[in-house]
Amino acid sequence: MKVSFVDLSAIHKPLEQEFKAVFQRVLDKSSFIMGPEIKMFEEAFAAYLGADHCITVNNGTTALHLVLAALGVGPGDEVITVANTFIATAEAVSAVGATPVFVDVDPVSFTMDPAQVEKAITPRTKAILPVHLYGQCADLDALLAIADRHKLPLIEDACQAHGSEYKGRKAGTIGLAGCFSFYPGKNLGALGEGGAISTNDASLAGKLRMLRDHGSLRKYEHSLPGFNFRLEGLQGGLLAVKLPHLDTWNNERRKLAAVYNEKLRDANVVLPVEMPYGKHVYHLYIVQIENRDEVKTQLANEGIDTGLHYPVPLHLQEAYRQLGYKKGDFPVSEGLSQRILSLPMYPGLPLEAVEHVAATLARAAKPQAEVAGAR
Ligand SMILES: Cc1ncc(COP(=O)(O)O)c(C=O)c1O
Repeated sequence: MKVSFVDLSAIHKPLEQEFKAVFQRVLDKSSFIMGPEIKMFEEAFAAYLGADHCITVNNGTTALHLVLAALGVGPGDEVITVANTFIATAEAVSAVGATPVFVDVDPVSFTMDPAQVEKAITPRTKAILPVHLYGQCADLDALLAIADRHKLPLIEDACQAHGSEYKGRKAGTIGLAGCFSFYPGKNLGALGEGGAISTNDASLAGKLRMLRDHGSLRKYEHSLPGFNFRLEGLQGGLLAVKLPHLDTWNNERRKLAAVYNEKLRDANVVLPVEMPYGKHVYHLYIVQIENRDEVKTQLANEGIDTGLHYPVPLHLQEAYRQLGYKKGDFPVSEGLSQRILSLPMYPGLPLEAVEHVAATLARAAKPQAEVAGAR
């Protein structure tokens, strides 16, 4: 039985006619860049999140970049983020000329460990940038308390957490701003690149709107040197078709995660934990396994695709060698990079596939004592 890691066709097939109608509208109005489809989606996504403002951009990386630029973060400044994330989080900091300062993650939630943040703060720190990794929120109350104490803005990287909740509030609406990616495989994905920023701060929203479009709110009048980070009209329209289904898709992910949890209960794996403070939307379903590489190969041999998120923590990436971090600096992130395995997870994944993956994995995963060179 072949099991893909992600298959978007199951959720896209029933929406094909609506997608075609969007294309026809955009074609008829030549509203290729921004335009009415974008306005409609921005209003709908803000309403979904419970945020005052949504500002779309052309991807999640530029969403993060734009917020940092709007806050005036630049050369000589530092932004605290996690070692265990996709590189885009740190790249956005580099893009404004600032320095990412990494901290380790909590071993249970896999998100920013509040206990590590305070000691990483220096007079140069300009923002705290936690990541709601794999679909689960970081511990925002603890992080906000630190941010408030030091008068620092907290920016949420919610690129993997559309619809995830922290104490009943949606990810991306709790800090000063939340950044989303609509990369196709995300819980809410465009049919191409896309991103958005949510905020309740009207003055920041105005600045973000201006900066994403060459520092301009009126054509050829530029208040600031900005960027071209605009979203295509087509993607806005397509996202508006998909948004009403997001909660159904997230609930299906949660059900699939519950089946994995049940089927893997007695296997030699560490299961993901849903933190009591929030609602996990399982962008990724991650288990930890001692003989991870062996298991990954065995699953591949049986036709099961899996992923690694992420095999090398950011402080050990060649791209950030000049920052001077070394192996051992962030033991939780480093340990996870050796043990984590992302299992197939997407709405439409058949139950028999989940059962097949779980049974194959349970056979292949060994306890620590049986793994040569076990840590
Ligand atoms: C945690 C995180 N941050 C930022 C990004 C960047 O988003 P994009 O790929 O849309 O630029 C991603 C997307 O992969 C992500 O997973």
